[in-house]
Amino acid sequence: MNLQIDDQGRLRHFLSVDGLNRDILVDILDAAESFAGVPEQTVKKVPLLRGKTIVNLFFEASTRTRTTFELAAKRLSADVLNININASSAVKGETLLDTLRNLEAMHCDMFVVRHADSGAAHFMAAHVQPHVAVINAGDGRHAHPTQAMLDMFTIRRQKGDFGPLCVAIVGDILHSRVARSQIQALNMLGAGEVRVVAPRTLLPLEVESLGVRAFTDLKQGIHDADVIMMLRLQRERMQGALLPSAHEYFYRYGLTEKRLSHAKDDAIVMHPGPINRGVEMDSQVADGPRSVILQQVSHGIAVRMAVMSMAMRSREAAAREAT
Ligand code: NCD
Repeated sequence: MNLQIDDQGRLRHFLSVDGLNRDILVDILDAAESFAGVPEQTVKKVPLLRGKTIVNLFFEASTRTRTTFELAAKRLSADVLNININASSAVKGETLLDTLRNLEAMHCDMFVVRHADSGAAHFMAAHVQPHVAVINAGDGRHAHPTQAMLDMFTIRRQKGDFGPLCVAIVGDILHSRVARSQIQALNMLGAGEVRVVAPRTLLPLEVESLGVRAFTDLKQGIHDADVIMMLRLQRERMQGALLPSAHEYFYRYGLTEKRLSHAKDDAIVMHPGPINRGVEMDSQVADGPRSVILQQVSHGIAVRMAVMSMAMRSREAAAREAT
């Protein structure tokens, strides 16, 4: 059973890019386009989710993702509850299912979940009541689909069509849920060429099977690229000595103005944040004219509004059809 798409082909839960299809991804991007203007209105709100209660259930630290989900929910006129589980039940030993059942008893309509375990959002989606939607805000090393979609939205706004694009994803591919979701989304949307660039120790085995070309040399990997997506070194997920040092990493893989000259003249530079300046890239690039990093953050709100409203609308329609 596909947990993400209901029998009418509508988005039901948003758990990973994998398992969706091109049409749904394009619907998300188009809906996000329609929400992108909302912050410019005098009243920065639309009433689509009025009367709905959304719970941000974060078992892992986050600033950008949590706040943009919260703003997105508020701009859709929903009531939002933020629960930081580090300081709550998990510490006391409550299971994920018990947490879920308690929140359902409070009549919540949507869960936005971030969890250190891969599969946590899928688990919740498999156990919620039919009228409740689950959105994955990052699970372990597995997936971070709203990040990938805000990246796709940023690319589409900057470059238009995906077909002719060469996109290089640079950095800690091995530990990155963002990279996995980006690769799936780029391939589903028909990007011309998707590359990954990293030291061999930070590339998954048989990475080519994901539909990418792999490079261990930065200059070659970004040669003639239209889009460079940098990733943070996920030190908290590294066991053992995968890297000599941050200094050595910057020396070989850090993006500088000089190295950027190997990409196309109009190449854009992206990063999901948080950036380690002087490790993944220097400040000249992060703050330079090719950087669209802060646009990614703004677009995160529109894309999250799109995903939340699509999932909620399908749950409402399903409830109507059931009666
Ligand atoms: C990413 C994450 O949490 O997976 N950050 C984010 O959502 N903005 C990437 C990262 O932590 O490096």
